[in-house]
Amino acid sequence: MMYSLLFLLLSCLMKLVSCLTSLAMVVPQDPVLTMGSSLTFTCIMKSGVKVDPRELYWTLNGQRLPSELYTLVNSSALKVTLHGLNGSRQQSGDNLLCHRMDGRILAGSCLYVGLPPEKPTNITCWSKNAKDLTCKWSPGGEGETFLHTKYTLKYKLRWYGKENECQGIVGLNSCCIPKDLALFTPYEIWVEASNKLGSAASDIISLDILDVVTTDAPFDVQVNRVGDLEDQLSVRWSSPTALKDFLFQAKYQIRYRVEDSTEWKVVDDIGNQTLCRLAGLRPGTVYFVQVRCNPVGIYGSRKAGIWSEWSIPTAASTPRNERSSGTCYQKSGESGSNLRRELKQFFGWVKKHAYGCTALNIKLYDQWRVWLQKSHKTRNQNQEVAVFVGLQEDSPGR
Ligand SMILES: *[C@@H]1O[C@H](CO)[C@@H](O)[C@H](O)[C@H]1NC(C)=O
Ligand SMILES: *[C@@H]1O[C@H](CO)[C@@H](O)[C@H](O)[C@H]1NC(C)=O
Ligand SMILES: *[C@@H]1O[C@H](CO)[C@@H](O)[C@H](O)[C@H]1NC(C)=O
Ligand SMILES: *[C@@H]1O[C@H](CO)[C@@H](O)[C@H](O)[C@H]1NC(C)=O
Repeated sequence: MMYSLLFLLLSCLMKLVSCLTSLAMVVPQDPVLTMGSSLTFTCIMKSGVKVDPRELYWTLNGQRLPSELYTLVNSSALKVTLHGLNGSRQQSGDNLLCHRMDGRILAGSCLYVGLPPEKPTNITCWSKNAKDLTCKWSPGGEGETFLHTKYTLKYKLRWYGKENECQGIVGLNSCCIPKDLALFTPYEIWVEASNKLGSAASDIISLDILDVVTTDAPFDVQVNRVGDLEDQLSVRWSSPTALKDFLFQAKYQIRYRVEDSTEWKVVDDIGNQTLCRLAGLRPGTVYFVQVRCNPVGIYGSRKAGIWSEWSIPTAASTPRNERSSGTCYQKSGESGSNLRRELKQFFGWVKKHAYGCTALNIKLYDQWRVWLQKSHKTRNQNQEVAVFVGLQEDSPGR
């Protein structure tokens, strides 16, 4: 029972086995090897143990090794040679065991087979509201060493600091320095990796906390219809509270997509306003909208910070275009092109007379659109489609 249990356990329990049994020993004990190498192990019976070594067999991680790999040494020893070793199946080492014919374990050894770590790369750091510093990195090379590999983020102030180790591991390949940051002195940061086969250090990066500040996502994002305008939605949101606490300014980005698409459209020219009008949308369509924030002008710094996460998506639908449910969907026709010409004239007029005054421009346009939609509900469908097409092409609101 004890023995079959040992088979099942994954971690290498050789130390335990050698305590339990003193009938034999395996040499070498607990070797560390690079992948692909070969090694010969010998199971040597203690003196006085009357077991014929020809009756012994070997297992590696519970799997019996074929007898072609065995060589008889003498009346009390049997060798096994493993060629082209794979990386260890578990970081705690592979189990190589020497068994008696009845399955009983006589002795064993732990094998650590893997690769030395490669130089970690790609260190990226960010500071939430200039209060902490989190860095992540890539392990370097293929990443897999098959051995327990320890990564340590180290840092110091550039000119006079002593070396520190980051303690706040926040998951695989990232670490957080939670407090006591110097805001006006550059940091030097690097990552050291080590395992039983070697160690490697990344390049040193140098950074100012104030250049890598990010903040919370905007919250309370509201998306609403703009009257009856079927191609528009208005978006408003609250700026992250930390902005006020830390005297940052902010700039924002919006992205939106239709319900059944994964493709986002980004609106990049919002500046520090906390509301924005999306235009040119599809009528009667559900849109998902997200907003994110970039802190700028932190303590007078001229650089922009790092974009926050996107806010939780907010959904809203544009009003349905009643005309599109009709079967008659042509955009040609005498009266249609007349209307179209009129519209062009109208927008030409708006552009000319509202020059340099966008607010008036958009307001006029909205009024015009609402008026059109209301007045055209009673009219002929052909015309209305034409109106819609004309607006899509000419609308000065975009
Ligand atoms: C058998 O070989 C092993 C390993 O080479 C050695 O340690 C042991 O003393 C030998 N035993 C005898 C009886 O020759
Ligand atoms: C290495 O892995 C391959 C594929 O899993 C297997 O066929 C081969 O026997 C393994 N080699 C050793 C020495 O365990
Ligand atoms: C470096 O980090 C970025 C951001 O996390 C990631 O997209 C990229 O794949 C990484 N590059 C390498 C070589 O690991
Ligand atoms: C937005 O930016 C302008 C110009 O830089 C500035 O005068 C204004 O105070 C800012 N508004 C907010 C809410 O930060």
